[in-house]
Amino acid sequence: MRVVLLGAPGAGKGTIANLLSEHDGSVQISTGDILRAAVNEGTELGKEAKEYMGRGDLVPDSLIMSMMEARLQAEDCEKGLILDGFPRTIPQAEELKKLLERLGIALDLVVNLDVPKEVILDRLTTRRTCSNPDCQAIYNIKSNPPTEDGRCKICGSPAIQRDDETEEAIMNRLDTYNEKTAPLISFYQQEGLLKSILSLKSQETVEKIKAALQT
Ligand code: AP5
Repeated sequence: MRVVLLGAPGAGKGTIANLLSEHDGSVQISTGDILRAAVNEGTELGKEAKEYMGRGDLVPDSLIMSMMEARLQAEDCEKGLILDGFPRTIPQAEELKKLLERLGIALDLVVNLDVPKEVILDRLTTRRTCSNPDCQAIYNIKSNPPTEDGRCKICGSPAIQRDDETEEAIMNRLDTYNEKTAPLISFYQQEGLLKSILSLKSQETVEKIKAALQT
């Protein structure tokens, strides 16, 4: 599959991308995960991205596009790809369109994960993320907890709250989403690729996406 997942912070993009990837081996590409790993490793990209991310602002389009231009040409993308958290602005969507045309790749579907704001706030304050940059598994202390002593069930590293999970950063991320990312819903509607799904139960959402891919 070649799918883009849109949705507010905490809507469940990472969770759904992971389930879809288990389904057919398509590779999950999360710009947030790539950037967090770069911050942890202290690379040039990580140094540039760190402050934007901590405040809940978007990282500049130019940095994201050069990172993704390379990533989308990696061999594993031939199996299919699930874009999680990218594109996030109209300029990124326009650049992605040109890049995919150049690479001869056509998107099958863009899914908008529609989740009520109160559910989103609850999910973000109860999320825990594996601190191992190579793992970054997602947990939730209510719906999918880590081990009793707060560790990742996959690699055993501590499952922690992210740096951008302060109340101030969360509110800024939601405002940024409304201003910069929500316009992508109309963009992809006009492209004839959009499917909006009220996403309250992950497995149900995955089944709806699989069905939409078959039509
Ligand atoms: P990113 O990591 O992409 O963060 P985000 O968009 O804010 O999304 P989240 O990761 O917070 O949430 P999610 O939708 O993946 O939800 P999740 O599955 O974890 O980006 C971080 C930062 O990087 C940005 O702020 C920006 O600075 C920068 N950045 C990244 N991409 C960029 C780009 N393209 N351009 C510029 N800057 C960029 O789920 C949330 C919680 O809910 C979890 O605890 C999960 O277990 C739980 N949950 C999920 N689904 C369900 C369910 N159905 N039922 C119960 N619990 C559920």
